[in-house]
Amino acid sequence: MKTSTLMLGIAAIVGAAVGVGAWVANTRQESKAPQQVERAESAPDYQRAVYSPLHFKPAIENATDAQCLACHKEILDSRPRETSPAGIRTQDSKAWYQQLTTYTGEQESFHRRHLTTAFAKQVMDLKCNFCHQGHDPRDEAPGTSATTAPQSDQGFTLRKQVNPETTCLKCHGQMPWENMALPGPWTESKEAFQNNCLICHANIRTIRHQVNYLKPEAIETVGKENGDSCYGCHGGRSWYRISYPYPRHAWPDMPTETPDWAKGRSTESESRFVIPSATAKK
Ligand code: HEC
Ligand code: HEC
Ligand code: HEC
Ligand code: HEC
Ligand code: HEC
Repeated sequence: MKTSTLMLGIAAIVGAAVGVGAWVANTRQESKAPQQVERAESAPDYQRAVYSPLHFKPAIENATDAQCLACHKEILDSRPRETSPAGIRTQDSKAWYQQLTTYTGEQESFHRRHLTTAFAKQVMDLKCNFCHQGHDPRDEAPGTSATTAPQSDQGFTLRKQVNPETTCLKCHGQMPWENMALPGPWTESKEAFQNNCLICHANIRTIRHQVNYLKPEAIETVGKENGDSCYGCHGGRSWYRISYPYPRHAWPDMPTETPDWAKGRSTESESRFVIPSATAKK
């Protein structure tokens, strides 16, 4: 009597186990097939992807954002935590570079602040390859072997995937107030000028921003409404102690004498960004 119930019990367990096993095998089979197809079509193996020609010159120069995002979608998807591990709410902690009146919205990643947030889209038109000009996946340094990018390659620098001097510094340098003969840094002198750069810049250095990664007309519009829009890219979010050596485009009524600080300055924007008809426009 006892043995028969035991046998029944075992049979039930075995039956159940076989059933579950078969069910698991089935579902695995079901989900496996389509996944395999998808992978084979869209994802190359990891090593091949790391050495994708799109990571190197010359292909990276003409790469579209869509081509990069096919593999790096997370660049635009990932968001900062809402609360730090120590319990500080992201919304309650604004850094010094988030104090300008143009700063809006939730905390966002670096990439999103340059590519997808409202102010970024209003005044800029940055592409992946504005910053990313290639990198060496082996040791992130140009010129370390015969087959890597040569040291003359200015696209990236030692241990960095981009070259800050030719990218970030353009919009995150100090405000060169000495060159403008202002009485002091903008934080001290802005009240005297009603926080309005256009008091002077309606007539001085008026040929500006004619490059494909900025939106020149939109910049002038927001600059009229709010001096912080201009200041933000010209000292208000400065990561550097130096300022970018801006090209000095000739403007109508430009004084004939060149000030000392401006000697040797280019009179054209960096060639890879120039809008072809720029100098003809006003
Ligand atoms: C075929 C897929 C693929 C494409 C297309 C692709 N990448 Fe990558 N990329 C990868 C993989 C894989 C890595 C290595 C990631 C790792 O090791 O963490 C990588 C690494 C990188 C890295 C270095 C990341 C790090 O943490 O070291 C950067 C920057 C990068 N890619 C930018 C780009 C840009 C810009 C483009 C477009 C011009 C692009 N990639 C196109 C797959 C791709
Ligand atoms: C404003 C300049 C800039 C733009 C525009 C930009 N990146 Fe980056 N990106 C960076 C910097 C700086 C880093 C960090 C580099 C380092 O660690 O040396 C980075 C890092 C990365 C990495 C490594 C992973 C990570 O999150 O750190 C990938 C992948 C990447 N970028 C892809 C892209 C893609 C794809 C685009 C276009 C959709 C893009 N980037 C646009 C500047 C930029
Ligand atoms: C063409 C101009 C431009 C370039 C080039 C540029 N930035 Fe920015 N950056 C901006 C603007 C504009 C904002 C403010 C965006 C906003 O308030 O929404 C910003 C904001 C930032 C922030 C603050 C993000 C936050 O969460 O508040 C960081 C960090 C930053 N930039 C770093 C960099 C670095 C590093 C580079 C070079 C790889 C770079 N930027 C290149 C214009 C630029
Ligand atoms: C009192 C007048 C005045 C005000 C106010 C003023 N500027 Fe200037 N700015 C000048 C003069 C003058 C120059 C130099 C012109 C030349 O090239 O000879 C100059 C040059 C510049 C340059 C080029 C610097 C270089 O090194 O090539 C930038 C960028 C600039 N101003 C941005 C701004 C911004 C942004 C503001 C407001 C936050 C502002 N300026 C406010 C008078 C002014
Ligand atoms: C999104 C960032 C951004 C904003 C906003 C911005 N600038 Fe600029 N500005 C730049 C960059 C980048 C350059 C250099 C472009 C180049 O290489 O030609 C520049 C160049 C200049 C120059 C040098 C002009 C020349 O001779 O080529 C002046 C002056 C200037 N900006 C003034 C202003 C004023 C005034 C405003 C507001 C109305 C303003 N900027 C807003 C990024 C910005």
